[in-house]
Amino acid sequence: MKILFVTSEVHPLIKTGGLADVSGSLPAALQALGQDVRLLIPGYIQVLDKLESKRTVASFSVFPGQPEVKLLSAKMPETEVPVYILDAPQYFCRVAGPYQYELGGDWPDNAMRFGMLSKVAALLGSKASPVNWRADIVHCNDWQSGLAPAYLHMTESAHAKSVMTVHNIAFQGNFDRDWLAPLDLPPSCFDMHGVEFHGYLSFLKAGLHYADRIVTVSPTYAHEIQTTEMGYGLQGLLTVRNGDVSGILNGIDESEWDPATDIHLTARYGLGDLAPKAEGKRALQQRLGLEVKERVPLLGVVSRLTYQKGLDMLLECLPKLLDGGAQLAVLGSGEADLEKRFEQLALRYPGRVSVTVRFDEGLSHQIMAGTDIFLMPSRFEPCGLNQMYGMRYGTPPVVRRTGGLADSVSDASLPDGTGFVFDEPTPAALYRTIVASIDCYRDIPAFRRVQSNGMKRDVGWRVSAQKYLELYRKIE
Ligand code: ADP
Ligand code: GLC
Repeated sequence: MKILFVTSEVHPLIKTGGLADVSGSLPAALQALGQDVRLLIPGYIQVLDKLESKRTVASFSVFPGQPEVKLLSAKMPETEVPVYILDAPQYFCRVAGPYQYELGGDWPDNAMRFGMLSKVAALLGSKASPVNWRADIVHCNDWQSGLAPAYLHMTESAHAKSVMTVHNIAFQGNFDRDWLAPLDLPPSCFDMHGVEFHGYLSFLKAGLHYADRIVTVSPTYAHEIQTTEMGYGLQGLLTVRNGDVSGILNGIDESEWDPATDIHLTARYGLGDLAPKAEGKRALQQRLGLEVKERVPLLGVVSRLTYQKGLDMLLECLPKLLDGGAQLAVLGSGEADLEKRFEQLALRYPGRVSVTVRFDEGLSHQIMAGTDIFLMPSRFEPCGLNQMYGMRYGTPPVVRRTGGLADSVSDASLPDGTGFVFDEPTPAALYRTIVASIDCYRDIPAFRRVQSNGMKRDVGWRVSAQKYLELYRKIE
């Protein structure tokens, strides 16, 4: 089957969160299942810099009156998955992030940037394909490619079927209706049964309305987004389309995230020999300026610092835990207020709290390996990958029972427990659960059982990639 996987970020070229990890590993898993899968990504500077041996395969104008863009072709590093790059320097060659400029505001022409990506995806799935290849399935991811199913629907000749994966329903890509004309969308589609959402042109709503199938990244989240509390206004549409909605749990890249081979670690380890993990802890304590102590419980956080992740609840209960002797290593960036509160905590607890505010791939692996317990108290979590990394690294996670966390972590009270799970989104419930995790950490055989259950858990892509393939086959 010919599958076009459209995404706005992909590891190891450009990453702000889990979407990049999924875009790096799911296409490779589908390729391993014998499929002709290709990526389509924007030609950000970071992408053009990192990809070697690119060649131009097409030049064309996407929207009437727009200058020509190029489509480049290359192979992804390591996995060799073919990738098309939308080379439109005017829109993508900018210093700063893929969606935001340095001060944290959204690029004002995001509608055009990602509208163009969506339109090119639809072209690659239609008779008008600018290259000698036409997709049977266009697999869209989040709002940035949400208009592709709309463009496909408006294509009169034979065209690909579309799948829309929702990685986070809170991000919708809602824009002023004035963007309709520049994006070559007819006024008739600005309708409740079309791209309109509360008076705005909504990329995600368009994807959810026009795609042949809707997938979210865990079975629990597939139910949650059909509720008023968690649907962010899209629950009605999703409930109507209930028969077309499913949840497929993400996997992880098992070669990149393997404590036995991880290139970011100096002390590597596996289930059979956990001893070097203690060495990694010592190295981490040293690197981060924490007191070097072997048996002190070291808690880890690697996260976007946003409301979603529930870290404000964590901030409320941390002083008691730190006064009780725990250490904390935080790596993250995001909302200024949360960054500041964590930095203040580090000042208040020198040698006991380390806070690194930036994006740092290597350090994220070292925290995963060198901490004892990983904290992920998310208010909502469509899937979450870090809890799976934690389990694989023998660093059991503390998670709230929501979305993909509920589907991937089982509580230590169960025979197959891999972490510590709580229900209420309150600092008190989180505190109790972290205390329980520290009690377990002190009971070496009990903790070893939780670590070992987690390290044995199958968190790879094999099963989930197969489920995507079955879904494509149903609609092809
Ligand atoms: P989300 O996509 O909602 O941010 P996930 O758990 O699915 O959450 O994925 C987050 C990914 O981003 C993980 O690979 C995590 O290690 C990584 N990550 C988040 N913040 C940072 C950071 N500051 N430095 C390095 N990696 C980070
Ligand atoms: C989103 C979600 C996260 C998920 C990731 C990859 O960023 O917030 O839960 O793991 O996408 O699907």
